[in-house]
Formats: sequence, structure tokens, C-alpha cells
Amino acid sequence: MKKKSKLNKQFLDQTNPTIRLDLFTWPEVEEYLQHCKGIILPIGSTEQHGPTGAIGTDALTAQAVAHEVSKRTGVLVAPTQSYGMAEHHLGFAGTMSLRPTTLLALVHDLLISLAIHGFEKIFIVNGHGGNIATMKSAFSQAYRTISKMELLESKSFQCKLANWFMVPEVFKEAQSIYGDKEGQHATPSEIALTLYLEPMLLSKQFELPPPSPAGPIYDYKDFRERYFDGRMGSDPFLANARDGEKFLDKAADALSKNLLDFLKEA
Ligand code: NI
Repeated sequence: MKKKSKLNKQFLDQTNPTIRLDLFTWPEVEEYLQHCKGIILPIGSTEQHGPTGAIGTDALTAQAVAHEVSKRTGVLVAPTQSYGMAEHHLGFAGTMSLRPTTLLALVHDLLISLAIHGFEKIFIVNGHGGNIATMKSAFSQAYRTISKMELLESKSFQCKLANWFMVPEVFKEAQSIYGDKEGQHATPSEIALTLYLEPMLLSKQFELPPPSPAGPIYDYKDFRERYFDGRMGSDPFLANARDGEKFLDKAADALSKNLLDFLKEA
């Protein structure tokens, strides 16, 4: 039989508080590192989410899922990186984007900072599809830097990208509730989660005309022409807060299991 770790005992106990790096002191971080080398880093995006969705949707949702995962696992969570690679959304007011090279450099530097202190397992909870390619590139860049710096005694610095919206349990639930009206951007599932988190957003929900069908993504001018109001095949007015809570729960449960497995992985 496998030995139960301290982390496993806490698993799925949602009554624990979120353990936040921004509220720790440095001696507390040192103490934490004595028993756990893992940390959660939420990353989102600040970009249009159709005419009824909040600009901060991807950051709000990634942060909420990351905080729930921290409660369930006892793993420390870093402050949210709220800006991502959203170049193709710049045709819509309010979008603030980092170029892929900027995001790569930023994430690389954050990973190296964590490695210097002795963190070895970095679990990134991501809320935005447009970040995926750059995040993976940043991991490769960080691995190279770390091997050059000979920073780590254990030589086992590992990063894992966890896209909450691609969790199979979330995806299945979204398909069963919304079918093909889930679409690909400003989806009812992500909007539902924001309605659960921020009740003031309820007042902004109204029925919309049929969306442009989902298709390719090029530059922001092309995006605006193809997707007239920012949605890609989605009907976000189907979203409600009750379903949002369900999505949060399913994402946090599945990603907590993934994180605990990741921490045990050699
Ligand atoms: Ni989104």
C-alpha cells in the first residue's frame, strides 16, 4: 500500500483556506518549501468575450479554479497573471495583449524566480487557449536556462500546463448542457463561471442574434470581420450561475487530482 502524504489527507477538503503566496512572508515560504516544492500559478487573459461577457473572463475563471485547487490540495498559489496572448482580440475595445515573445519572456522569468527558491513543480492553471503555445515554449526556455545555471540539486524542475476549460469532465458537462451552442469563444461554460463568481455580471446578460460560426484565427482585423460581435459559434446567454458553480467544482476536482499526481511523479 502506498503511504499517504500530508497533502493527500487534505485532498478534497474544500473548507481549507486558499494558501496564497501574496499573503505569506518570506520565512513562511521557506518553511512551506520544507514540506512541499509545488506551487500553482494561474494565468488568464484580458480580452473581449462577446457583447455580454466580461473582459476579465479568462483571468477570473483561472484564478477561481486555481484557488479551489489550493483549498483541496494544500498547495500554495501565486498571484494571477491576468494578461496573456490575445493579439487576435485587439479589434475589440478593452482587450490588452502581450505579444507571444513578451509573454514567453515574462513566464520564463517567473519560472526562474521560483526555481531559485527551490520550487520544483510548477502547476499552471490556464484560462485561455491563446496562451497554450507560448506557455509550452516558455517551459522549454526555462528548462534550458535552469540546466545551464545548475540551479537545482535535484535536477527535477517540472512545469505542467492545466487548461481548466479542457478538463474532460467540464467539456462533457458543457456539451450535455449547451451542445453545439458552446462554441469556441465567449462560451456559455466560461461565462457561467463568471456569473457565479461576480453576481453583478448577471445584469449584463441578454439574448443575442445567432453567432458567426467558429473558424480560423488570423490577425485582429480579420477576426473582427469574421466574428462580428466577438463570439465564435457560442450562445453565452444560455449561461447561469448555478451551472457555473458546477463547472468550478468539476474543474477543481479533476485538476486537484492531476496536481497531486504531478507532485508524486518522479
Ligand atoms: Ni475565454
